[in-house]
Amino acid sequence: MKEKTKKRFNRIARLYDIFERPFRKKFSRLRKRLVKNAAGRTLEVGIGTGNNIPFYPGNVELTGIDLSDKMISIAQKKSKGGTKVNLQLMDAENMLFEDNSFDTVVSFGTLCSIPDPDRGLKEIRRVCRDGGKILMLEHVRSNNKIAGKVMDLLNPLTLRIIGDNINRRTYENILKAGFSPRDIVVEDIWADIVKLFQITNNKPGED
Ligand SMILES: C[S@@+](CC[C@H](N)C(=O)[O-])C[C@H]1O[C@@H](n2cnc3c(N)ncnc32)[C@H](O)[C@@H]1O
Repeated sequence: MKEKTKKRFNRIARLYDIFERPFRKKFSRLRKRLVKNAAGRTLEVGIGTGNNIPFYPGNVELTGIDLSDKMISIAQKKSKGGTKVNLQLMDAENMLFEDNSFDTVVSFGTLCSIPDPDRGLKEIRRVCRDGGKILMLEHVRSNNKIAGKVMDLLNPLTLRIIGDNINRRTYENILKAGFSPRDIVVEDIWADIVKLFQITNNKPGED
């Protein structure tokens, strides 16, 4: 499963920014919005080709991980000159960081491609400190009956071609990972399909 995901993203790495080009203006606005509240030691999970890097506030100490070495090497080129980033090849489902290593964890379109989002979210919760912030911009399965079914039908195709699951129930997965609804602020960005999740990582028992 992991090997498949890695292969898919290695295969599309060189095309990734070309695909994004027609949407760059819109995506840049979303990227800026997502990362503007990042602070302190920040981890971006599934950093891809590094398109969020230019938008981080200057005081952020940024680490980025990804499963795909080809995506990472493109991000590496972008991180020269501007914001310094510590880039590492690492599986988000099995991170090598200590508990509570980060003040902020960010993801942009990563929870749809990670093979096991429940494990990934549990890992995010673990490496983010108590009271830290988790900022995620993700596309999810629509709650509309017809749109949701169409997404289920098309999912095997999108997964194969672009490595994305378009029918993930991300809010439900966030709850399964142990987050409380009262710590989650969800905003619909496009219909009920693209959502901004801002979570406070309250870990009961850790003061
Ligand atoms: C749709 S791309 C998004 C890239 C980037 N976040 C952006 O803003 O453009 C998803 C990324 O998640 C990475 N990814 C998928 N599964 C992963 C895992 N288990 N661990 C780390 N990265 C993973 C892929 O290699 C890919 O670079």
